[in-house]
This record gives sequence, structure tokens and C-alpha cells, in this order.
Amino acid sequence: MEDLELGIDTIKRRSEGLLKFTESYRSLNKITKLDLTKILVRNLFESLSNLMRPTLEKKNIELEIILRDPMLAIEADINLIEQVLINLVVNAIEAIKDREEPRITLTGEIQSNNKIVVKVSDNGLGMPPELLEKIFIPFFSTKKTGSGIGLSLCKQIMLLHKGNIQAQSTEGLGSAFVMTFGTIIESKVALPN
Ligand SMILES: Nc1ncnc2c1ncn2[C@@H]1O[C@H](COP(=O)(O)OP(=O)(O)OP(=O)(O)O)[C@@H](O)[C@H]1O
Ligand SMILES: [Mg+2]
Repeated sequence: MEDLELGIDTIKRRSEGLLKFTESYRSLNKITKLDLTKILVRNLFESLSNLMRPTLEKKNIELEIILRDPMLAIEADINLIEQVLINLVVNAIEAIKDREEPRITLTGEIQSNNKIVVKVSDNGLGMPPELLEKIFIPFFSTKKTGSGIGLSLCKQIMLLHKGNIQAQSTEGLGSAFVMTFGTIIESKVALPN
């Protein structure tokens, strides 16, 4: 019963998120105002893992979470950032479908330049450099039924956040998509010297 309630709640939240997302997508090039809040990366990963759990379990995919600082937070529009993560995880699922031990890793960390990084990596088929160059181009897809919108949307959303997204990949080994956010609010406080 509790599982069911959690499931229904997740579906409800997500469909609301999707509605907002389609709205935002339509107006994305009109520069939408972001609904910025402070989000714990831990909560972001938890709701993503709740949302994807049924699919991941069915496909025997291991979801690994690497997050040393449980208080790591970003300032972002939660609906849009959830959508970026969903797009990346869906791509990862598609990339690992023929792997024997498929694994997706979510990582949250602070870089040495104080920028916060959220990373989605997979041990899937990877990409050669000439493919890697093209993946953020709108409507570029190598999939039969792909629309090629997923990653270009991720990029637009990250740029709206004054952040960025970059891909790293090794053919045959896997890929990682690295989202960078601005410096955390706390670290903007001047330190006494
Ligand atoms: N994790 C990944 N591993 C390997 N290739 C990837 C990965 N993510 C994206 N790609 C490549 O980048 C292309 C573009 O991805 P994108 O998400 O923009 O479109 P798509 O997945 O083809 O379609 P959709 O619009 O349904 O998302 C994919 O077709 C695929 O070739
Ligand atoms: Mg996609």
C-alpha cells in the first residue's frame, strides 16, 4: 500500500513536471524565467531513482550513487533539472541495453574551481569522436525512432541556468554527461583574511 502511494505520488509529481516542461519547451527560446530554489542534490538523486526504479529493475540495471557531501546543493529550477536528468538517464538506458552488467552512475561533487558538478555516466556502447561532436545539435539522432531533441534541450536548460553540459565518451567503454552549475551560495560569502 505504501509502495503504491509512493508510486502514485511520483507519477502525479512527474506529470505536473511534464506539463510545466512542455510549457517551458515551447517558450524556451523566449527566455523563460527560471523558478530557482535551493535543491539538495541528494533529494534530486532520490526522486530520480524512485522514478526510474521500475524500469531499471526490469532491465537489471544497477544504479550507483556517488555523493560524499549530503548537504551538496544547487540553485536551480527543479522541474527543468529533473527533466535534464531524465533525458540523460533514458539515453544511458538505451546505450547499455546490450551490456552484460549494465550500470548507471549518478555523481554529485564540487570541483576545485568551486563549481558544482552533477554527472550521469554509463558503461554502455560509448561514442567515437566524430559522433560526440554532433550529439548536441537539435534533431541529431542515431536511433531509429529518436527525435534528437533530448540533448539539445538539456543544453538549453543548462545554459538558461548559466551552467553547461559536456559529454565525455570512449567507444566501447561508456559515456559521461557532466552538468556544471555556478558556485554554491555559501562559498560566495567573503572569508575574513
Ligand atoms: N549515453 C549515451 N551513450 C551513447 N550515445 C549517446 C548517449 N546519449 C546520447 N547518445 C547519442 O546522442 C544522440 C542524440 O541524443 P538525444 O538524446 O539528443 O536524441 P535521441 O536519444 O536520439 O532522441 P530523443 O529525442 O528521443 O532523446 C543519440 O541518438 C545517440 O547517438
Ligand atoms: Mg535521448
